[in-house]
Order: sequence, then C-alpha cells, then structure tokens
Amino acid sequence: GVEHRNLSEEITSVLPPARLALLRLISRAAQNRQLPIFVVGGFARDLLLNVPSFDLDCVVEGDAVDLADNLADAYGGRITSHQKFGTAKWRLNPKNTALQAALAEESPDADLSALPDSIDLISSRTEFYEKPSALPIVQKSSIKLDLHRRDFTINTMAVRLDGNHFGELYDYWGGLSDLKKGLIRVLHSLSFVDDPTRMLRAVRFEQRFGFTIEERTLRLMRQAKTLLKDVSGERIRHEIDLILVEKQVVSMMTRLADLGLMEQIHPALRWNDDLASQFMELFDLPLPRKYDFSGHPSEMEQKIQVAYILWLLPVFSNNLQEIIQRLRLKNNLSHMIQQAHDANIELDRRRKEPDSRLIAALQGCPPVVLYALWLHNKLTHQRNIIEKYAVQWRHVKPRTDGKKLMKMGVPASPRIGEILDELRAAWIDGRVSSEAEEEALLQHILHG
Ligand code: CTP
Repeated sequence: GVEHRNLSEEITSVLPPARLALLRLISRAAQNRQLPIFVVGGFARDLLLNVPSFDLDCVVEGDAVDLADNLADAYGGRITSHQKFGTAKWRLNPKNTALQAALAEESPDADLSALPDSIDLISSRTEFYEKPSALPIVQKSSIKLDLHRRDFTINTMAVRLDGNHFGELYDYWGGLSDLKKGLIRVLHSLSFVDDPTRMLRAVRFEQRFGFTIEERTLRLMRQAKTLLKDVSGERIRHEIDLILVEKQVVSMMTRLADLGLMEQIHPALRWNDDLASQFMELFDLPLPRKYDFSGHPSEMEQKIQVAYILWLLPVFSNNLQEIIQRLRLKNNLSHMIQQAHDANIELDRRRKEPDSRLIAALQGCPPVVLYALWLHNKLTHQRNIIEKYAVQWRHVKPRTDGKKLMKMGVPASPRIGEILDELRAAWIDGRVSSEAEEEALLQHILHG
C-alpha cells in the first residue's frame, strides 16, 4: 500500500493546544465508529508551510451527519445538517461541561478561546459538472476522488485523524511536490471551465505564498478567462472581498490586471501605479483617527469600503452604475462610491474658487468617502481642503441657528438654510472669526 508521511509533530507544534485536543476527540469518536476521517482544504498545506489554518473542514469516508450527531450528543453544541448532501456543521459550545472535561483530559491547560466556532463535516463525494459554471451533480465516493475535485494540487492534501492514523498525510495528486516547487497547478484541463472563480483563486494563492502559476495552468487560464463574464456578481465580489483582506492585496490586483482577468470582470475597471500606491497607503497604515471614523463596521471593513471607492474613482461616470451592478455592491457602499465620484468632479471643477465653495463639494460625505478622496487626490491644496473639512470644518456651525433667525423675523422658509450656509461659509473662508463679526455679518445680510 501507500506509505503516508506522519505530520503529528507538525500538528502539535503549529496548532494551539485546544484545537489539537479537539482533533483528538474527533479522532477517537471516528475510530469508535470505524470511520476514516480527514482534515482537508488548506489545513495540510498550511501545516506544511508552518502557518496555522483556521478552518477545520473534515471529510468522512462514510456518514458525516451521523458522526456529527454523535459528537454533539457527547460534547454538546448544535448541528445543522443536510442528510441529502451528507454535510453537517457542528457549532461548538465552549461552555458545555462534557466538552470542557474531555478537552482538559487531553490537554490540561488548553485555552478554550482558541477553539473554532464550528467544524464542517462532510461525507466524501465526487462532483460532475454537466455544463460550465453550473452547479455540480454530487455523488458519494472515496477520499481520493473527493480530493481530485478540488482547485489546485496544493489544496488536495488531507490529514487523517481517526485512531492510529492520526497525523497521516494523504497526498494522491502531487500536492507536496508542487508545494515544494512553489507551483499553483490545476488537476485537469477543465478545472477553470467547471469553476471560473478558480482563476481569481489561483492569483490569490500565487501571490499569498509567493508561488508561480504553473505554465500549463496559465495557458488554460488564458483560454478560459472570458468565462468570468458568466460568473454571478455575488461570486466575483466574494473573491474580490477575499483578496482585499490579504496582505499581498496590491500584487494580487496587479496580477489580475496583468493577466487580463480584471477586464473580464468589467472592461471599464482600471488598475495602475496610482491605484497601487493608494492601496498601499490605505492598507499599510491604520485609518487616521482624526477623520473620526465610527466604531463600526470594523476597521478592516471600513478599509475595504475605502478600497472599493478608490478602485472605482478612475472609472468614467457612465460606466459606474454598470460596475456597481456587476459586482452587486451593497446599497450603502454604492451610495458612497457615487458620493465620492460627484465630490471629486466638483472639487476639480471648483478648484479656482474660494475654500467655502470647494468644501461645499464635500458636504455630507462620511469619513470613509473623505479619506478615499484624500488618498486619491495628489494636489496639496485639495488634500488640505479635504483634510480640513474632515477634521474641522465638518464640525463648524455658526453661533446663529434657525430658531434665532425666526425670532428675528425671518419666516420659516428655505431662506433660513441659505442664511446659515452663508454664515458658515464666512467662518470657513475666514471672513468671520468671532461672535461679534458673525452678528455684524448677519445684520448686513438681513438689512443690507
Ligand atoms: N475549492 C475549490 N474550488 C473553489 C473553492 C474551493 O476546489 N472554487 C476547494 C479548495 O480545494 C479549498 C477547499 O475547497 O482548499 C476549501 O475552500 P477555502 O476554504 O476557500 O480554501 P482554503 O484553501 O482553506 O483557503 P484559505 O486559506 O483562503 O481559507
């Protein structure tokens, strides 16, 4: 038979003790039912690269739902399963005392906060694609065939868990060899036809690990790239979102453009050195606190919003809606993209006008939009205006308010807003710098 290299040592040194202990519980439960079980996906790949993997995707040669139910009976938590597809998700409950006791027995000082939220258990299966880009037809099968349906060889390695087999590396499709060579290679010539999003994944893995897309794979990609046109907006956006949280985001975007993949997503999408340096500045530094970003969504999510705005700022206005549709961008993001576009056009149009006119172009823009505009604009004067508006002027309000104006006899009408705007502009342009000066200006406006 095949000899399997054992990765127990790597597992022990890379995984936090609580995760290791959890794998041992699963190992025992599977052995009791004589079920071969494997951790698949990025787990073996990351282990061999000495980085911890967060997802635990397990494939069972047999009934995964049944095994998951057993685990939940013994150690609590909740199961969501689809018997028909042989898939189960075990949501752990770290407060469950039976789970805590069993983990403590494996590893007395395990830190339970290192446990995953959930584990996926799936019966091994193979997939057939009847036509390109459609959902596959699924059939139960061996681990070997289950691994063969995956995207790249480096993702086809599995680590067996049950009983004495704990830690055995299953490498049927040349994964370890390609991992050592640093190659991203598909398993068969129709891989990108079956699932065109794999072209985007190829770039992501290549740049993340500093690997190279293997030559034939690259050729297959060139042949298949137009198929990206048929992929749904949700799936494309999901892949872009995954790229935007990677350390190597800039080299990934550059590679997408160089390979002609970006233009397949939409021909009006742009990538150039300016965008690259804006993205670097965005992702390398924390969001500047003086912009007063709100606490949510998270810093990373706000950076992603800024990234989309930056990416779409060089797009011509008449293509903008189409791209927003194509990527199925959420309403609030698409609103901010539009705001940034409009503001940017106005900033340029009014560049010779006084500050108060310039900043009127920024009226109503939230910090995410303002910061994107700041990163986008190179001109010192415009940058200063944007920053000053974000930090200071956004908060400037004249001492006078609507109530006071009505008391002074101005009828409730748009005239009130106009007067307040005029006072505000005077503060911003420096024509007014005290309450008395504001009062004098007000008298002048009202009585000439
Ligand atoms: N997969 C695939 N084709 C896709 C998406 C996923 O074949 N379009 C397979 C891959 O083999 C992958 C596994 O499903 O290893 C799990 O997918 P995912 O969690 O996205 O991959 P990871 O390798 O875990 O990637 P990451 O490190 O980014 O989480």
